[in-house]
Amino acid sequence: MSDDLKQPFLDELKSVTSLSDAAALKVKYLGKKGLVTAQIKSLSTLSPDERKQAGQQINELKQFIEAECDKKESVFKNDELKIRLLSESIDITLPGKFAAFGSEHPLSKTLGEVIDIFTRMGFSVEEGPEVELDQYNFEALNIPKDHPARDMQDTFYVSDDIVLRTHTSPVQVRVMENRKPPLRFIAPGKVYRCDADVTHSPMFHQVEGLMVDKDIKFSHLKGVLITFLRQLFGPDIPVRFRPSFFPFTEPSAEIDMGCILCKSAGCRVCKGSGWLEILGAGMVNPKVLENVGYDPEEYTGFAFGMGIERIAMLKYSIDDIRLLFENDIRFLRQFS
Ligand code: PHE
Repeated sequence: MSDDLKQPFLDELKSVTSLSDAAALKVKYLGKKGLVTAQIKSLSTLSPDERKQAGQQINELKQFIEAECDKKESVFKNDELKIRLLSESIDITLPGKFAAFGSEHPLSKTLGEVIDIFTRMGFSVEEGPEVELDQYNFEALNIPKDHPARDMQDTFYVSDDIVLRTHTSPVQVRVMENRKPPLRFIAPGKVYRCDADVTHSPMFHQVEGLMVDKDIKFSHLKGVLITFLRQLFGPDIPVRFRPSFFPFTEPSAEIDMGCILCKSAGCRVCKGSGWLEILGAGMVNPKVLENVGYDPEEYTGFAFGMGIERIAMLKYSIDDIRLLFENDIRFLRQFS
């Protein structure tokens, strides 16, 4: 009787075209209510002899159907895998995706170098507020209200008594007020002046320097600044001190270095002179020392100040200060 099922099964097997067809066919014959299962159940109606023979045949048929269905299933499973592998394949010849790395801003880089040089010479680093009292920005530095020296720095006033600091020099006063000599520090930070063109920005950075102790002389100032400039721009850079005026130093000097762009031959940047102005400095005015309660007979000191944008522009041959603040990624990438 089981042979009655073999041919119909084989016919149906031919029309199986998918994994689910194969599974359905298996259920149709071998499932709980399947055709072969029904025959197995009916075995109990046969005599023991008949049952033995029929049972063997049905078993063989069952194994045959099982094997055939499994074969089909594995063929379709293989096909599906192939299709999936094809659809999920990646083109390893495509260029990769690169993460964009940031780089240090040329100003931060320059500021870092300046700070390194001074800390190696034993200077500590101090800070002060950007919104500053007129008292610290001007008056304690020997620049009284309505004094013509105020014209040197075009000031943003917050109120009559409060300004955006025009230089880092007020940090000199704040530190001296709170400490006794010996003092040896630099004070980097942002400063503000109402000024804007290719070499001036309303916000820019300065580094102030101050050293106060017994017997500090102009020669110490020269030694420190010449050492600094040679470390920053190279050991052969020419340096000269020119007499100048600042209300908070006496005597005062402006420091020039040989133009690094034309090697002192004279160019557009140094206006043909071969020299570039790079620092303001001088011996701390005794009046400033008195203002913070130091005895100028006992203590002397020197102070200096420099603009970081100017140094960065010279170091990296940048001809427009605005490039430093526009954050154009094509410009900034050149410093990575
Ligand atoms: N504060 C001055 C300026 O901004 C620079 C300076 C600092 C000069 C210290 C002398 C001493 O122009």
